[in-house]
Formats: sequence, C-alpha cells, structure tokens
Amino acid sequence: MKSKLIFATNNQHKVDEVRHVIGDRFEIVTLREAGIDIDITEPHDTLEENATEKSHTIFHLTGQDCFSEDTGLETDALNGEPGVKSARYAGEGRDFQRNIDKLMLKLQGQHNRKARFRAVISLILSGKEYQFEGICEGRIATEQKGLQGFGYDPVFVPDGADKSFAEMSMEEKNQYNHRQKAMTKLIHFLSQSS
Ligand code: IMP
Repeated sequence: MKSKLIFATNNQHKVDEVRHVIGDRFEIVTLREAGIDIDITEPHDTLEENATEKSHTIFHLTGQDCFSEDTGLETDALNGEPGVKSARYAGEGRDFQRNIDKLMLKLQGQHNRKARFRAVISLILSGKEYQFEGICEGRIATEQKGLQGFGYDPVFVPDGADKSFAEMSMEEKNQYNHRQKAMTKLIHFLSQSS
C-alpha cells in the first residue's frame, strides 16, 4: 500500500513538480484534497522556521505524516534579497510579476547577477521533524523570458543552462530544481526509514 504524505502547500505548480518525482511508493495529498482550507502564514526570518511553522500547523490539524517547503531566491548583489521575503517582495498581494519588476529594477545596471534558489523541506514523520535543503545556483537574466512555471522562473537561469526556468519543460527544470534536490533527500530518507 502507498504511504500517504500531506504536502502543506496551496501552490499547484509545486504539487505537480513534486508528484513528478515522488514515484509509486508515496501518495502526495494536497491541502485541498485533505479538506484543509487555510493560508498558512510565513512570519519568520528564516526559511527553516517558516517550513517548520507550516508542517507543524498541518500536523496539529491532522495528526498525519506531512511535509512543507519554503523557498527563497537569494541574490549576491542585494545581500540575499528577496530571500525569505520572496513571495511578498513587492507587497502582500504575492504578485509574481510585481515581484519580478521590483527585482529587475533593483538589479538594473548591476553586473553581479549571481543568485540561487534555496528550498527547505520540513517533514513530520510519526510526530518527529526532519529538514532537507536543496540549492540551485544560477543568475538573474537581464530580461524576462518564457511562459512556463511560476514565480521568478522567467528571470532565473540555472548554472549550466542558457535559458530561463520559464523556457523549460517541467522535466528540464527538474534537472536543476532546488525543490527536487531537497525532495530527493527526503525520498532517500523515507526509503531508508521504511
Ligand atoms: P514559498 O514561500 O516557498 O511558496 O515561495 C516563495 C516565493 O519564491 C514564491 O512565491 C515564488 O515567487 C518563489 N519561488 C519558489 N519556488 C520557485 C521556483 O521554483 N521558481 C520560481 N520562483 C519560485
């Protein structure tokens, strides 16, 4: 029988990406499928604390094994901005385009475009928490390109590629994807512990 894991997110893009790699042994249940209709807050200064906040919230509601994920885009020229504030960089509306516009404006004329996505997954298994990190190094392009994906995908070019995440299919993006790197560690951990 498949083991069930609730994924504490309302972001369907993230769910699709994770389902793509999770394999047959685990069934990913979304918040909506679990009948949970909440917008979990991300009030902390670190990705680690926010991931913990989300997984603990869902665990306390359901008592079931679950995991959450928090990601930040960190740029060197802006001392790690937008970082933990990536989702709300241009305000509470969490508008992807406004976030990109703000980032591009702040990096205008800047030669150092180095950036990375850093994802932290918090897993709660049998009531105990474990964390996994995934990093994708790359750079912020000087212009926005592509229509796939979400968030900062149109301006992020991973190291080793010559196009943005938004110009890639999901398979291509998953070769570099920060979230997949953290998920691979989680899957490895689960296969060792079952
Ligand atoms: P969250 O708080 O973990 O949902 O993510 C924070 C923000 O980072 C999101 O709103 C997106 O703007 C951005 N983000 C997270 N993962 C990705 C990704 O894979 N591609 C592009 N942007 C992402």
